[in-house]
Amino acid sequence: MASLVEILTVEHLAISRTGVIRGSYDPEGFVSFRAYMKECHIEIEEKICFPILEAYPFNDAKTFSANVERIKADHKLIDTLAGNIIKWSNDGKTEMLEGRLPLFYKLLTEHNTEEENDLFPRWDSIDSQILRSSSKDAMSIIDSFGRKEYMKIIGYNDSSFSYFFGLK
Ligand SMILES: [Fe+2]
Ligand SMILES: [Fe+2]
Repeated sequence: MASLVEILTVEHLAISRTGVIRGSYDPEGFVSFRAYMKECHIEIEEKICFPILEAYPFNDAKTFSANVERIKADHKLIDTLAGNIIKWSNDGKTEMLEGRLPLFYKLLTEHNTEEENDLFPRWDSIDSQILRSSSKDAMSIIDSFGRKEYMKIIGYNDSSFSYFFGLK
């Protein structure tokens, strides 16, 4: 079984290689990707990962919380831009869409790198009981989103998915 932060890091790797945000835009694929980001990746971060980290008594807890708030504000920005991209696509504003898609990719990948630098390393301080239950909690968010769709977006096969989520 992988830890929640390992699961999120694998998602970041998959996101950085996702075709629909790297220039090979397709309307349906982008709509699915936005749904995955909002309902799954961001949901796991904001509902499971960040609250656990914020509850830990770090020496710099105040600064850390401010960092978390900044990261959450990024989530709103990322989703708003994704919504605009879909709107421009529906309205046939191809130039606008092609101009902003690289910005969306940059914003998202830089955001993910910040999480990996500033938040995820703190996961090492978390108790092993919480480590196990947090991966299970993530699993229920993934199932609400759709396990098959999630596996397709991240690139898991049955074996790798079972291993990461401790299903065997
Ligand atoms: Fe995030
Ligand atoms: Fe992330």
